[in-house]
Amino acid sequence: MKWIEVTTYEEMSRIAAELFSKQMKANPKSVLGLATGGTPVGLYEVLVEEVKAGDISFKDITTFNLDEYVGLAKNSPASYWTYMHETLFNHVDINEDNVHLPNGVATDLEAECENYDKRIAAAGGIDLQLLGIGVNGHIGFNEPGTSFDSLTHVVELTESTRTENAIYFEEGAEMPTHAVTMGIQSIMNAKEIVLLAFGERKLEAMEQLKTGKLSEDFPASQLTTHDNITIIYGGTK
Ligand code: GLP
Repeated sequence: MKWIEVTTYEEMSRIAAELFSKQMKANPKSVLGLATGGTPVGLYEVLVEEVKAGDISFKDITTFNLDEYVGLAKNSPASYWTYMHETLFNHVDINEDNVHLPNGVATDLEAECENYDKRIAAAGGIDLQLLGIGVNGHIGFNEPGTSFDSLTHVVELTESTRTENAIYFEEGAEMPTHAVTMGIQSIMNAKEIVLLAFGERKLEAMEQLKTGKLSEDFPASQLTTHDNITIIYGGTK
């Protein structure tokens, strides 16, 4: 486990971007696991700049996102599909056929979950997985109490997560109660992981992670057993 402490958000984003561009240059057909939330926005901005400068290309890259809200169609303003397109995909040379997010409006959500893990495996597995972390230690949408063995599944969001994420929803818009998320085991299957955490509200989670104590009440703790993980964290934002 590699811990990198930074002082600014820009520094965190730049170091994370270096890991991603290194991976993409080493294997232009890499399979990347991507995350949403406020934390990775700076990283995606750097990657867009690097594509525009001709340093890296998404032409043959495949992506799998961690999660999506149940009940939100792709084009819904608060869907993670929309977030990913507005923040990254619309600005880079990715082939839309290689973009994967769970379908939160699938009629058979169980089949959708099962297929998602199959599609990751068929693509050869995830080479580099990006993660943020919830204040309660959730990764993807794996809330406290989720089994470490979990594969992609439907979750009921906790009150804490719904409150945290309400800022991404327009005033008056209904906040979803459920989401589809890659499971903890699906995440652990990645060959390499990079977790980003910035700001005061994430400090407690970082302290807890550093203890190395394994508990399903703190989903991120399982990451301490991964043999190729970098945690870039810091700041009082
Ligand atoms: C959501 C996402 C997580 C993300 C977390 C933290 O719950 N499902 O994948 O890590 O938010 O978000 P933020 O980066 O905005 O703090």
